Amino acid sequence: MSTKKKFFAAPLFLTGVLFSLAVFAQEPAPPAETPAQPAAPAEASAQPAGNLASQYTEKGADTCIKCHDEESEFPVFSIFKTKHAQKADKRTPFAGLQCEACHGPGVEHAKKVPEGQKQAPIIKYGANSAVSPEKQNKYCLDCHQGNNRIGWKASTHESSNLACASCHKIHAPRDAVLAKVTQPEVCYSCHKKERADFFKPSTHPVRAGLMTCSECHNPHGTNTTALLAKPTLNQTCYTCHAEKRGPFLWEHAPVAEDCTTCHTPHGSVHRPLLTKNAPLLCQQCHSPAGHPAVARTGAALPGGGAGPSGFLLAGSCANCHSQVHGSNHPSGSKLMR
Ligand code: HEC
Ligand code: HEC
Ligand code: HEC
Ligand code: HEC
Ligand code: HEC
Ligand code: HEC
Ligand code: HEC
Ligand code: HEC
Ligand code: HEC
Ligand code: HEC
Repeated sequence: MSTKKKFFAAPLFLTGVLFSLAVFAQEPAPPAETPAQPAAPAEASAQPAGNLASQYTEKGADTCIKCHDEESEFPVFSIFKTKHAQKADKRTPFAGLQCEACHGPGVEHAKKVPEGQKQAPIIKYGANSAVSPEKQNKYCLDCHQGNNRIGWKASTHESSNLACASCHKIHAPRDAVLAKVTQPEVCYSCHKKERADFFKPSTHPVRAGLMTCSECHNPHGTNTTALLAKPTLNQTCYTCHAEKRGPFLWEHAPVAEDCTTCHTPHGSVHRPLLTKNAPLLCQQCHSPAGHPAVARTGAALPGGGAGPSGFLLAGSCANCHSQVHGSNHPSGSKLMR
């Protein structure tokens, strides 16, 4: 049985108990479902085996908010402003088990305890929870397995033990990681080096709030290195820089191969996002022995010039070889037009 089916069996069962005792009596199906539960070990430890329905509160959120009210430390109420609280949408937690769809069965936890004593435990989210990230995530994945999260399993973030709640804030009226302007800060909380890169003089306009990390990365996991949004690095770049894809009559081999042979995607002190300045950039591959190396004086140019040329300013090879990304001009074989 798929975990999804199993998950939905629980709300169905509860609905049966709560709202339709008659149906419950006629239909032995839900109780038959119950013994199947312990078969899934991950679930069994998060949700104790046995008669599941009796472990969920009868009134759901109404029971929880008796104690978790506006005065309590943690503002639970803002969840009612989110998509999760759309009761009319049958797929949402609030159309089913409500708070307990994520926090697990809460009957024991919701019992009043004498002053000075602790409530029975209930599933808590985030890094300092006693529940492993894997078990936390299972609650979310039961509803969110598909789409962008197909690659979650075995992704770098999954194997680094991140919880969905490491990035997402479920009780916030606006989840910071979903908004363009606030997303980078969420990522920077762990990725300090990238923060430094995006403060360099030449960057993609992430700091300006015009671009997000997730336009190039899928943080939920992909088949590529570095969680890139598209199957290859260059394809990721082409989504916005389509003109660099070509096809070109005169291709420049490293461009078609990998943009990062010359560019760094995050930030650089060399504009525009170059790993090095010319001529060094070009001389990594082009022999410093012939024309390319000594093109700082006109004498070094093919044909031999007299005196320095204006084109040689700043040693920039691109002053003449302006079509570094490839040329479609019939006589552009030297990438000059
Ligand atoms: C009788 C009051 C009461 C009810 C009802 C109640 N809680 Fe709590 N809950 C508390 C208290 C008090 C804490 C603080 C943790 C502690 O000291 O045990 C808490 C803590 C929590 C925590 C954090 C757990 C942790 O490990 O820090 C979560 C999550 C939670 N409650 C969810 C719920 C949900 C969901 C419901 C409804 C099913 C619910 N609570 C019903 C009193 C209650
Ligand atoms: C009972 C099913 C269910 C569970 C459990 C659940 N979600 Fe959702 N979630 C939904 C539905 C339905 C939507 C609305 C999707 C839509 O509108 O397309 C949603 C929306 C979202 C969104 C998008 C919100 C937005 O404003 O666009 C995020 C992020 C999300 N869920 C994360 C989580 C995380 C993290 C967890 C676990 C802590 C979780 N969900 C648990 C059903 C669920
Ligand atoms: C490393 C941070 C990070 C983690 C961990 C993470 N997410 Fe997300 N999530 C994001 C970002 C960023 C977006 C916005 C993506 C976009 O704009 O394309 C997003 C979007 C979503 C959305 C709404 C849009 C969509 O893709 O359907 C859902 C639902 C969601 N995440 C669920 C989850 C679940 C479930 C988990 C745990 C398995 C999880 N996320 C873990 C960063 C994260
Ligand atoms: C879609 C899943 C989901 C639903 C539904 C949900 N929560 Fe939460 N809850 C979370 C996550 C994830 C966190 C961690 C903080 C955050 O993401 O905002 C959390 C945090 C909490 C905390 C703070 C625990 C701590 O860390 O000390 C309490 C209390 C709580 N929830 C109670 C409730 C109550 C009461 C309801 C119903 C009104 C509810 N939750 C509904 C996912 C959910
Ligand atoms: C809670 C900490 C945390 C947050 C938040 C976080 N990451 Fe990560 N991320 C990690 C860890 C840990 C790794 C693996 C070790 C490493 O490469 O630093 C990682 C790795 C990565 C990688 C490299 C993957 C690879 O295969 O080399 C990318 C890309 C990435 N994260 C992007 C993001 C983006 C984008 C966000 C924000 C939406 C984000 N991360 C938020 C912890 C985090
Ligand atoms: C323009 C596209 C683009 C944007 C925007 C972008 N990245 Fe990247 N990122 C890349 C590429 C491409 C790589 C792979 C670099 C390589 O393999 O040389 C990468 C690599 C990474 C890595 C792995 C670094 C390593 O050393 O292995 C992390 C972590 C990362 N990015 C985080 C982020 C974060 C956080 C943001 C947002 C603040 C972000 N990226 C924005 C394209 C981008
Ligand atoms: C989501 C769209 C998007 C993606 C994907 C993208 N870029 Fe960009 N790129 C931009 C925008 C927007 C600018 C800024 C243009 C401006 O400032 O006029 C830019 C600018 C640049 C610049 C010039 C920077 C400067 O200082 O003028 C370079 C070089 C560049 N991108 C390389 C890349 C590479 C390499 C990749 C793939 C790793 C990539 N881009 C992926 C949107 C994107
Ligand atoms: C051989 C080195 C090299 C490679 C590989 C390369 N570039 Fe460039 N790129 C440059 C240089 C040099 C400049 C600056 C040109 C100038 O100053 O006239 C530049 C400028 C840019 C610019 C900003 C100016 C413009 O032409 O729009 C963008 C965007 C850009 N490159 C994207 C890419 C993308 C996308 C790829 C991969 C498909 C790529 N580059 C591969 C060397 C390279
Ligand atoms: C990563 C290595 C690499 C880098 C860096 C590089 N190139 Fe190239 N370049 C090549 C290769 C490979 C060829 C194809 C050589 C061939 O076909 O014989 C080439 C071809 C050329 C040609 C055409 C040569 C001919 O014989 O037709 C010119 C001009 C050129 N590059 C200029 C530049 C300039 C200017 C830069 C710096 C902006 C640069 N290259 C950076 C690898 C590189
Ligand atoms: C003043 C203009 C100018 C500058 C600056 C310049 N070149 Fe050239 N380069 C040329 C011309 C003209 C040719 C074509 C020669 C021919 O067709 O025989 C050429 C040819 C080449 C070739 C093809 C190899 C060959 O011998 O045919 C390469 C590679 C090259 N240049 C790289 C560079 C590099 C790297 C730099 C920077 C260090 C550079 N060039 C600076 C004008 C220039």
